[in-house]
Amino acid sequence: MEETNRVIAVVYYSGYGHTARLAEAVREGGNALDGVEARLYDITRLDDDSWAELDAAAALVFGAPTYMGSAAAKFKAFMEDTSKRWFSRAWKDKLAAGFTCSASQSGDKLNTLVQLVTLASQHGMLWVGLDILGGNNSSKGSPDDLNRLGCYLGVMAQANADQGAEVMRESDFATARRLGERMAEQLLRLR
Ligand SMILES: Cc1cc2nc3c(=O)[nH]c(=O)nc-3n(C[C@H](O)[C@H](O)[C@H](O)COP(=O)(O)O)c2cc1C
Repeated sequence: MEETNRVIAVVYYSGYGHTARLAEAVREGGNALDGVEARLYDITRLDDDSWAELDAAAALVFGAPTYMGSAAAKFKAFMEDTSKRWFSRAWKDKLAAGFTCSASQSGDKLNTLVQLVTLASQHGMLWVGLDILGGNNSSKGSPDDLNRLGCYLGVMAQANADQGAEVMRESDFATARRLGERMAEQLLRLR
């Protein structure tokens, strides 16, 4: 088995640093299991070597902030840049997952995750959702709960519009770490 068959590529865009911090948390979670290596790929810095590494990876985790109720335009450009891979079915049967961040609690970010699921499905990839129950939804809940925004398609995080990326909730990072770890578990199970 090739070494690259155990690689999770975390492919993201971040205009102001919030989604980048989530990407780092997904990477940490992916690296928590022996035999799996998670790597970060900022879509604004992809060169031919990075694209070759994405092609070789066993799993891709897509991350984009929600801008105007949609994946940020620069990430959409990346999505379209994958069309040659779509045509050749190069990413078929890779595992896929996703995460997003926005300022509002909802902010229409479900739409961003649906776009990421659709991207993965167009490629014939296998989507890995989040396995933890929604938190912060009962009298005993709090924003410190894992999955505090109650999403199952992937990770939703929230960061206040007037604060920088250094001010984010630990529960969102923990949720993102869980997604990375779950991806590593599934990768080991399937390969
Ligand atoms: C152009 C633009 C559009 C945005 N649209 C939304 C939106 O639709 N919903 C929302 O809740 N937040 C919206 N935001 C806030 C961002 O989603 C939020 O600041 C996020 O944390 C940014 O992530 P980043 O630092 O990785 O770019 C928008 C921000 C920008 C710059």
